[in-house]
Amino acid sequence: MNQRVIPIKAGGFTLPSTTGPLVGEPVDTLGRGIRDLRISVTDRCNFRCSYCMPKSVFNREFKFMPHDSLLSFEEIERVARIFVDQGVQKIRITGGEPLLRKHLERLIEMLAKLPVELTLTTNASLLAKKAQSLKDAGLQRVTVSLDALDDETFKKMNDMDFPVSDVLEGIDAAAAVGLGPVKINMVVKKGVNEHAILPMVRHFKGSGHVVRFIEYMDVGSSNGWKMDEVLPSRDVVALINDEFAIEPANPNYRGEVARRWKFKDGSGEVGVISSVTEAFCSTCTRLRLSPEGSLYTCLFAQQGHDIRQLLRGGANDEALARTIQGIWQQRGDRYSEIRTADTAAAKKIEMSYIGG
Ligand code: GTP
Ligand code: 5AD
Ligand code: SF4
Ligand code: SF4
Repeated sequence: MNQRVIPIKAGGFTLPSTTGPLVGEPVDTLGRGIRDLRISVTDRCNFRCSYCMPKSVFNREFKFMPHDSLLSFEEIERVARIFVDQGVQKIRITGGEPLLRKHLERLIEMLAKLPVELTLTTNASLLAKKAQSLKDAGLQRVTVSLDALDDETFKKMNDMDFPVSDVLEGIDAAAAVGLGPVKINMVVKKGVNEHAILPMVRHFKGSGHVVRFIEYMDVGSSNGWKMDEVLPSRDVVALINDEFAIEPANPNYRGEVARRWKFKDGSGEVGVISSVTEAFCSTCTRLRLSPEGSLYTCLFAQQGHDIRQLLRGGANDEALARTIQGIWQQRGDRYSEIRTADTAAAKKIEMSYIGG
């Protein structure tokens, strides 16, 4: 690991470049490897969830990225292939809403050839229509966002009058074509949808799908996050346990973001994701690639590293690998462990841009 780091400028940010031998699989300053690559393929979404893309900010005037600034599928596949050599074992496609990206199945087909687990996070608005073609292209699993089972609450959360029934249809279609077990993410906002927790548990218990309750987070700078809108996961667990006896289960793998809880009667499990009250940075092996080719080493990052310039400037695979290693080796992110009211108010990259 005797590398000299020579800063080079790219896209306005300083990218590290290295000379000397490439290391096998890089580790960051806290000893974490790169295991998960999350690829955001669009910054657009057809929902306007208040905690992610509030209409007051993401309105008619908002400038989304023009199509020609997005990485092409060939560019994404090239970056992904290089990452697999750096230790990546899982790739998750995200957005915005990834199914809005045209011909996404073609990208899935390309990525499915890599030796990784390939999954996608979606709001399911287009899932019923696309589940079969995604499966045929080689997608392995999907995670669906759903914040309530009653239309009144769900429509209030998505702010686009989108009905619950279409999401449930998408979940059923995904399970029917073999994209399961389907994980269902529910962001819990205190006073807004906490009454939807138990109906969600009752509905999916025994279905084979896994509901995970996510603490509302201070991602981005648009959602006006306040600590008193966070319902701590321990309260969620207590609420569920009052109705259905649950017990903790071991993680499926080291660094799993969700804490698993099994129903004692053997009818499945639920999960909680507690980024605010119980940070999991110490095992965070995730790196995010934005739609226009910037790398973000933390969900709460203020800046990315633009690698599109290298991709389009004729850099060979080895130069790209060196740059990626340099970025990772300098990483010391642990935002959720050091969150304060000040960090929460800082200008950060939006979740709709780099995905969940
Ligand atoms: P699987 O176990 O493979 O299904 O993946 P996963 O648990 O990473 O699932 P998913 O990508 O659906 O992550 C669930 C949610 O956890 C995301 O939508 C985010 O809200 C949150 N999350 C995921 N990764 C991070 C992270 O690195 N930091 C923080 N703070 N939150 C994260
Ligand atoms: N807090 C917690 N989770 C969020 N997500 C989006 N914004 C937030 C937030 N502020 C989740 C969505 C979706 C995934 C992509 O990220 O619910 O499941
Ligand atoms: Fe769209 Fe997902 Fe953000 Fe909601 S949380 S606005 S569905 S990207
Ligand atoms: Fe990883 Fe940053 Fe999330 Fe911590 S806050 S788990 S470092 S992405």
